[in-house]
This record gives sequence, structure tokens and C-alpha cells, in this order.
Amino acid sequence: MKDKSYLLATDLDHTLVGDPSSLSNLFTHYQKQQFDVALVYVTGRHLDSALNLIEKENLPIPNILITDVGAAVYLAPDWKEDEVWSAWINETWTPDEILRLSQNFPSLIKQDLPHQRRISFTLDPDQAELVQAVKQNLKQHEILHHIVFSSGRDLDILPERSGKGKAVDYVLRKYAKPEVHVLLAGDSGNDAEMLSLDYPAVIVGNAQIELDELPFHPLLYRATEHYAAGIQEAWDYYYPKTQ
Ligand code: GLC
Ligand code: MG
Repeated sequence: MKDKSYLLATDLDHTLVGDPSSLSNLFTHYQKQQFDVALVYVTGRHLDSALNLIEKENLPIPNILITDVGAAVYLAPDWKEDEVWSAWINETWTPDEILRLSQNFPSLIKQDLPHQRRISFTLDPDQAELVQAVKQNLKQHEILHHIVFSSGRDLDILPERSGKGKAVDYVLRKYAKPEVHVLLAGDSGNDAEMLSLDYPAVIVGNAQIELDELPFHPLLYRATEHYAAGIQEAWDYYYPKTQ
């Protein structure tokens, strides 16, 4: 990946994936270029779920797969985990304490995940006010964590040192060419942290309203087009010479 001058790091659901014809246009566009684009997928899904989606949607295999909202980093082609990252983030991670505390909120529906790299819940639309209460409770008990609410529905409690932004920053510094031209793309709350990094980024046109809260910034492009067409719109905006 260090030899590639351009890099796309994108969320999957409702960003890269959502409209098959824009998706195929985006990759046809990349294939026509003189340069190769390194690819990093940054998803809230766990590894098997992300790999299933990649297969089902026939997505190009990325160089790196960041899963679980930044709580795990896997390298192609055999999806070996970056153990340095997991050791670092798990140093201050106490899932059992979080599970114990979540019992104070019986209406939270725990997501069924194959591991405890993160603890996630699904909320009903009328339960959004619970998020504040959970945040307060975690703070009160001084439990180190990073909490992310997305799509008015998904509540992820992550290791304090993780999150899509911190994981992308780590991956770019460790695996990418230092002067690489980057584009980061997302559509919902769990993308906010990475879209706020100091790299060119795009909010696709179909994004959740929660991203309206992100401040205007020259490195944060708000696309009109939806899904992969929004990524392509931003690519042409930042890197017009590669059109
Ligand atoms: C994806 C994951 C889910 C997570 C959500 C928000 O939908 O499957 O577990 O809570 O993203 O990050
Ligand atoms: Mg998404």
C-alpha cells in the first residue's frame, strides 16, 4: 500500500454500498486512471459481517479492513489482525464493567456480536434520550470508553482509544505513503470522527441528519450525489486532474 499515491478510506453501508450503478461507475473510473488507488474499508460491522457484504455486493477487496467502528484492523489478503492496534486500544477497555452497568438500562437491546471488542445496543426511535443517561452513568462510574450514536438507532460503546477516526489515523500513518492523496467518505454518526481528521473528506448526499452538526471546513465536502456517486463527486472536486 506504501507505493500508492491515492487512497480511498470509506464506510460501507449507505456510503460505498447503496446504489450498484454508482458503485460500478466509481471503480470503472479508478480503473481508467494511470495510478492505483489504495482501498481501506472502515465499517461498524464485525469482520465476518463485513466480509459477507464484500462478497454479496461484489466489492473490490480492500488493502485494509477496519471493522467494529475502529476496534479492529485487519490486513489483506488473509485478514490477519493488527495486534499492535488491538493491544493498544484494549489496554484501557473493560467490557465486563460496561455490561454490568448496562443492566441499569433494561430497555437497551444488546446487539448480538461474536466478541467483546465493543459493546453495542440498538435503540427504538423514541429512546434517543437514553443516550444521555448512559453517557452520564459511564462518566459517573469513571469507566474509560468512547461512545458513538449513529442513525438514531445504534449505540456503540468502544474502547476509549478506538473509533473510526483514531483507527484511520493509525492506519494511514503506519501503512500509507507519507504524501498520499486521501479521500475519506461516510454517511452517519460513527463516521463523524474520521470525517473530522485533517484529510480531505466527504459526507455523501444521502447522509443522516446527525452529520449536519459537523462544522463547515475546507476539508469536508458535502456532496449532492448519493452513495458512491457522492464519493466520485468529491474525488473530482479534490483531485480534478485525475478525472
Ligand atoms: C453497523 C454494525 C452495528 C453498529 C452500527 C453503528 O450497522 O453492524 O453493529 O452498531 O454499524 O456503528
Ligand atoms: Mg454507513
